[in-house]
Amino acid sequence: MSAANDMKALIERRVNRGLRGHWYPVCRSAELGEGLPHGVRLLGERLVLWRDAAGRLSCVEDFCPHRGAPLSQGEVFEGNIACRYHGVVVDRDGVIVRVPAMPECALEGRRAVAAYPVTETAGAVFVYMPSAERPEPPALTLPAVMSDPEWTGFLCSAVWNTNYRYALDNLADPMHGCYLHAQSFTLAYGSKQDLMRIERTEHGFRVERVSQKDANFDWTEFEFHPGSMFCFLEIPYPPAAGPGGPFRIIGFVTPIDERSTRVFFWRMRRVQGLARESWRFLYRARLEKNHWEVLEQDRVMLEGMPDDARRREMLYQHDIGVSRIRQILTRAARAEIEAEQAAGGVAAE
Ligand code: FES
Ligand SMILES: [Fe+2]
Repeated sequence: MSAANDMKALIERRVNRGLRGHWYPVCRSAELGEGLPHGVRLLGERLVLWRDAAGRLSCVEDFCPHRGAPLSQGEVFEGNIACRYHGVVVDRDGVIVRVPAMPECALEGRRAVAAYPVTETAGAVFVYMPSAERPEPPALTLPAVMSDPEWTGFLCSAVWNTNYRYALDNLADPMHGCYLHAQSFTLAYGSKQDLMRIERTEHGFRVERVSQKDANFDWTEFEFHPGSMFCFLEIPYPPAAGPGGPFRIIGFVTPIDERSTRVFFWRMRRVQGLARESWRFLYRARLEKNHWEVLEQDRVMLEGMPDDARRREMLYQHDIGVSRIRQILTRAARAEIEAEQAAGGVAAE
């Protein structure tokens, strides 16, 4: 095989696994109670998260340095994590601080497992997965509406048994809305035929229907920042959906491993005062159920696609958003691999 083909195969595997050098949401804040460690997987790696008595979060590999037991089965002890198997205690930097079963054990003081930057915002916990290109975490950039007091919303998150690329492709494809979700609340509005166009934006691109605007799921915008990527779209709402402006969905897609993905959708609306309370009530009482149904339609469709569907697919004009996302991931994977090569070797797959 030629070097160019080797590189192509390497890039393909890397894109499939998911890009490092990014902050990813890994769970809801509420999943992390005080004192109880929580295991997650990100880009195929097992991680454990915990919260100490002061509320501070920590994240290290979910691997006990003694014999490899999952630290996530252990407990939080004086702000560190203690393995349940033989009690070895690891701190938030991945250093073994105590081996209780053995007096003056030489393992104490050894940095034995990797530690990851972790932060919490808008009801979710984000972990930074370093890369050779970006070993240190850049500041986490989020959509402005997530911290804008004029907006309010709900975080909805689910695990889908599919590669994250399918979840991104799905978001870059507004045209599926009026077919896949045709039976759903509001998503049947508008025409079923159109062309798509792409526009560059300051931080990414917008893919939109050419002849339909503000009728349905008519566009998606993707933003790419050093260390974070997300998308958003808006769905115009009829008066029956209560007070407030359009319904905005902010999406983050987290690769768990090559076969599973966790999606995080913040469903936001710009609405204040009493109207905000009535919308929040209406959302919980009625709208949330509709939205879960829509998400389930996406999940079932994507989980039913073969892992290698792209080898046989036949794209048409509407897939320009899908192609753009793929180009961007490919470029980012190439940069990641080249940075590893420059640093002396490509990280193991
Ligand atoms: S495997 Fe964790 S203490 Fe032994
Ligand atoms: Fe959808």
